Amino acid sequence: MTTTPAPRVAVLFATAQGSTRDIAEYICNELAARGARAELHDIEHAPDLTGFDTVVIGSAIHEMDLLPQASAYIRANLPALGGIDVWLFTVGLGPALRGPVGRWAGRQIPRKIGAVIGALDPRDYAAFAGKYEREGVSWRARTMFRLLGGTRYGDLRDWQAVRQWTNRIAHALELPHAQAITTDHP
Ligand SMILES: Cc1cc2nc3c(=O)[nH]c(=O)nc-3n(C[C@H](O)[C@H](O)[C@H](O)COP(=O)(O)O)c2cc1C
Repeated sequence: MTTTPAPRVAVLFATAQGSTRDIAEYICNELAARGARAELHDIEHAPDLTGFDTVVIGSAIHEMDLLPQASAYIRANLPALGGIDVWLFTVGLGPALRGPVGRWAGRQIPRKIGAVIGALDPRDYAAFAGKYEREGVSWRARTMFRLLGGTRYGDLRDWQAVRQWTNRIAHALELPHAQAITTDHP
């Protein structure tokens, strides 16, 4: 009898303040709990991709773009990434915007991120809400946030959305369903 080896997954993240790392960690732990050989790495210390079946890349959004270390990594590794299943997620404010204008604005993919999606051709792309602390945000940025339908600050993450997307990855990898919720999020 032959057994299929567990898929190898690299979960790479680029974060400034930690919320993207938490989401990447959740995805990694959940896939590992379902039997994948999943590893979590800061994108600046990503392993050689040889032997990986799937790569999940997550980056915070700053100034309507991926963080520079994520863009640099993707640019430098496009040929290798072309031969692997890639799943891409970003963490920003869009999904937390409310009201008709906010929901419309939140669905827009910034031009530079659209270009990365075009080049990477990921299996799927997801935009998640992150953390947005009022302190340190300029008056101009606060006004823009309010006008676009931002109603609150703090931890805006939607773990249900993260869980659903992780399930899609697990399904694509043909991993068994978790017997029970095995991993926690912060
Ligand atoms: C300097 C700065 C610029 C930002 N620019 C954007 C932006 O253009 N679009 C957006 O959706 N969110 C923007 N954000 C919000 C961050 O994406 C959000 O806080 C996210 O949770 C950060 O992820 P991290 O905790 O992993 O760094 C910005 C935040 C900072 C601090």
